Amino acid sequence: MRAKSDQPLAGIVPKLLAWFDRSARTLPWRTAPGVGRDPYRVWLSEIMLQQTTVPHAAPYFAAFTTRWPTVEALAAARDDDVMQAWAGLGYYARARNLLKCAREVAARGGFPETEAGLRTLPGIGPYTAGAIAALAFGERTPAVDGNAERVFARLLAIKEDWAAAKKRIALLARDLVPEDRPGAFAEALMDLGATICTPRKPNCAICPVAAYCRAFDEGEAESYPIKPEKIARPERFGIVYVLRRGGYIWVVRRPPSGLLGGMLALPSSEWSETRQDAAAPVDAEWEVLGEVRHVFTHFSLKLDVWFAETPDTDLPEGFWTSEDEIDGLPTVFAKAAALAGLSARRKR
Ligand code: ADE
Ligand code: SF4
Repeated sequence: MRAKSDQPLAGIVPKLLAWFDRSARTLPWRTAPGVGRDPYRVWLSEIMLQQTTVPHAAPYFAAFTTRWPTVEALAAARDDDVMQAWAGLGYYARARNLLKCAREVAARGGFPETEAGLRTLPGIGPYTAGAIAALAFGERTPAVDGNAERVFARLLAIKEDWAAAKKRIALLARDLVPEDRPGAFAEALMDLGATICTPRKPNCAICPVAAYCRAFDEGEAESYPIKPEKIARPERFGIVYVLRRGGYIWVVRRPPSGLLGGMLALPSSEWSETRQDAAAPVDAEWEVLGEVRHVFTHFSLKLDVWFAETPDTDLPEGFWTSEDEIDGLPTVFAKAAALAGLSARRKR
């Protein structure tokens, strides 16, 4: 049931759409008005954007769609090529799911055309299913991501518990989606959240829906959404070894499951909760270059970076790879390689 106090909010729909028609961002995965959207490109961009920001995702999107222009092409790609192309986007389980999903879609002969059908694919949750259904297939379904939730939390000045708030927002958004332009409504909310109703300093003075906004009325836009305090991330420590011989560096394959599962990596000590005593994996003239930090979902990591040039022994596990390949390493290792002065062609 819809709360009476939520009713007037329906007025935001035409305002938002009119604003979107004037101010929509031009983004690589969007098309000109009236031009249909390829579900493959919508899906790919949405998966990437769950992971990172629009400017960071854009070159990856261009690289993927140039190399694999269709879902069938991606489905036929080698796993390693896709994992390497994904490197730098983080959270590699997502890249594995990407391939799994592409292969399933190719086997089915195309993307399912409804939100419910899309939900049956690997790696596609409620938000992504809604986004693809609305943007590519015109289904009257919402696509509410964190940005849209923030906008609604402010419009309604939601003070209740955040978990309950999210449910209320999902129901409300479902009611608001316009029959004729579900995709434009979704992207209008995304653009509003990204350009005006931003997390820190919302620009209410130019907001197309300020007249409907209770947080604005209260003069408290920045205070919303009210979320529970985040728990602090524990720290972990380790040593990462950059071992170089000529134009080659030593890499290892990480175990198939667990963090960065199956990815190429630089050799490292265990990542433990306390700083460890220095221990070299092999005799060499090690030089300590400094430290790199990386934040993972469940902990933040500090790695001392050790570097040695061309010892004549190899490590027990792993192999030499060309320095040119190291941009295909997960970001934490690419940071270590960059500290050693090895390439970091890709912007991070
Ligand atoms: N974030 C997630 N999906 C998006 C899209 N289609 N456009 C802009 N930002 C987004
Ligand atoms: Fe966000 Fe301010 Fe617009 Fe309210 S008025 S929706 S807080 S930008």
